[in-house]
Formats: sequence, C-alpha cells, structure tokens
Amino acid sequence: MSMPTMMRALQIDKPGDPAGFVLRDVPVPVPGDGQALIKVAYVGMNPIDAMARSGKINFFPITWPFTPGLEKTGVVAAVGAGVDKSLIGTRVIARSGFGGYAEYALNEANTLLKLDDRIDLKTGCVYRGASFTAWHALYKAGRLQKNETVLIHSAAGAVGIMAIQIAKDAGCTVIGLCAGESKVAYAKSFGADHVFDYLQSAWPDHVKAIAPKGVDVILDGNGGPNAEKNVDLTAPMGRIVYIGATAGTYPAPVPIPTLIFKNISIAGMNLAPIEEGPGSAADRAIIDAVALKRWRVPLSETVTLANVADLHARLEARHVMGRAVIEVGGLEVDGHIA
Ligand SMILES: NC(=O)c1ccc[n+]([C@@H]2O[C@H](COP(=O)([O-])OP(=O)(O)OC[C@H]3O[C@@H](n4cnc5c(N)ncnc54)[C@H](OP(=O)(O)O)[C@@H]3O)[C@@H](O)[C@H]2O)c1
Repeated sequence: MSMPTMMRALQIDKPGDPAGFVLRDVPVPVPGDGQALIKVAYVGMNPIDAMARSGKINFFPITWPFTPGLEKTGVVAAVGAGVDKSLIGTRVIARSGFGGYAEYALNEANTLLKLDDRIDLKTGCVYRGASFTAWHALYKAGRLQKNETVLIHSAAGAVGIMAIQIAKDAGCTVIGLCAGESKVAYAKSFGADHVFDYLQSAWPDHVKAIAPKGVDVILDGNGGPNAEKNVDLTAPMGRIVYIGATAGTYPAPVPIPTLIFKNISIAGMNLAPIEEGPGSAADRAIIDAVALKRWRVPLSETVTLANVADLHARLEARHVMGRAVIEVGGLEVDGHIA
C-alpha cells in the first residue's frame, strides 16, 4: 500500500477554548533529517495538551494552527535521511513533541521509545509518562523508604493513581486527596489506604489523625490553597516533592529557618533530565510492573478525534479521572502501516 498524501488532523488556529478545535484534511508531513513519521494509534489526554491549546505553556515550541497530542503510540510509517530504515514498522511511544491529534505525526527518531511487546498500543500512550513521573518523584526526589507514610495530592489523576500503587508496592501507608466523592472512590479502587475529599475543609485533621507525627513524603502536582498545608503535615525528616501546579499556583516559599526547625526538605522534580534510560534496571522494573499488571494503568475512557473538544472541556472542569485516551488509528495501526 502506498503512503496517503492527505490525512485528518485536529487543529486550533489560535490560543483559546476547546470550541476552537476544527477537524481538517491536511497534507501528511514528510519526515526530514533525523525524523520519523508515526502512524498514530492512540494519544493520552495529558494536561499539557490543554495548557498548550490555551496558550499557557512556553517550555515546548508551539506553532499555529496547532495540533496537540504529546504522548502517543503508533507505528513508524516512514523515516527521514540519517534514520535507520529498519525502524519502519516498529511499535513506538513518541512523547517529545505535539501533533498526535492527527493520523500521522512527526517525531525526532532518536527520542522514540520502543513499546514493550507485552503492552498494547492503548496502554502504551498512558503508562510511560504517568508511572515514570510517579516513580522518579517518589524514589529519586522523595527518597521513599519501605513502610513510610505518603500523602498524594490529586490522587485520582494519572500520576496520582500510579503513585498510589508504587507506594503501596513499597509497603507504605498511602493517603490520597482528591476533589469529590467519585474521585475518592476511584483512588481507593487502586489500593490507597485512606482517601479524603479535599473539598471538605477538615481533611488536614483526618491526615493528622492517621499520621500524628506527620507524613514522610508528600507528592504534590496540584499546588493551589491545599499546598499551603504541606509543611504543617510533614514529619521530621520528611520530604515534600512538587511536580506541577494543576490548580494554578505554587505555595509561598518556605523560609529556611522553618526547614531547619522542622527538619524537612522541599524538592522539585522534572522527569525529562533525570529519567532512567531505556534498558536501565529502573526502566525494566517499571515496565515489568505494568506489563505484569502489578500496577494497573488508569485508562478511564476512550474518545474519538471528533469528541476531543468535549474531553478538553471536561478535563478543565476537573471531571476526568485517571487518563482518558483519544483513539486516532486505534489497534488497526498495528501491523497495518501504509
Ligand atoms: N514534573 C514532571 O516531570 C511532570 C511530569 C508529568 C506530569 N507532571 C505534573 O503532574 C501533575 C499531574 O499530572 P497528571 O498527568 O496526573 O494530570 P491529570 O491526570 O490531568 O490529573 C490532574 C489532577 O489535577 C487536579 N486539578 C486541580 N485543579 C485542576 C484544574 N484546574 N484543571 C484540571 N485538573 C485540576 C484534578 O484532581 P482534583 O480535582 O482531585 O484536584 C486532576 O485529577 C500535573 O501538574 C502535571 O503537569 C509533572
């Protein structure tokens, strides 16, 4: 079968609301030097896609009209100059650039990750970012130890759900926080020992009742007003790890005398520069835990490109749990490359 010249792509012309998304027929991109063209199967609904759509991020290059879609899986359909042609036909995870809300997407070939044979394309577009972020935040930045007590903000999000399972695997007591009863039930279903609705103002008292001396590790990708409680809730020698601020703001800086007096550490974690590389012991251990289903990947719903505007709106209204997935080519992509 020859390569098509046109493809369906979801675009938005300028930063704005999800209502601005338009499904268009556009030319299939041609891979340049060092690039690979991916026939896209699935894309995870990463919050970064919504932030990029609305013009809120500046740490990734964005061109308009813009096609989001950061964390995608698919099959390599073509390669540019300087790229090994044997890559064609390989199932990959591509998450170093946007463009996944389209039938084909370009990616730098040297950033592609081969998808483990035991993991399907739909799971593949979710597990890597969420589990690697949670693992590195807990172990590398949080220096998690067996049997400690861990507090996870926004525990019903994709990273939160993976963090619950990783910390439980380490024999820890896990306390989750999230907004609303349905998210509480969802986080509990992944094994958290206690989950509190932080729309109820008494949640810090509930945490203190479980951990009177404080918790050992706090994982916070949420920020906002709840983050202001972190220092008070941390045990002596405890660690607070910030990985983002989905709620929109970071807490006020903590004075160094407070850190000294309370014996606590505050860390930030950015996955990309510290990620354990493919083939490392940590990489193999994390992939095995997912492939063997010791850690369950929180695939919550699957939508088509036609329903992405609604999905973005629901994500921003905080109505999405775990990770929603956008089906582009779906499982048909595997073994059916052009
Ligand atoms: N540093 C890194 O390397 C790295 C890597 C990946 C992800 N992250 C960060 O980790 C955090 C979690 O990522 P994720 O993939 O788990 O996200 P997610 O699945 O979309 O979950 C995010 C959670 O944030 C909460 N939230 C609070 N305010 C929100 C708002 N205004 N809009 C949407 N959600 C809001 C929601 O929970 P509640 O409603 O229960 O609060 C939601 O479940 C994000 O801040 C992300 O940027 C960092």
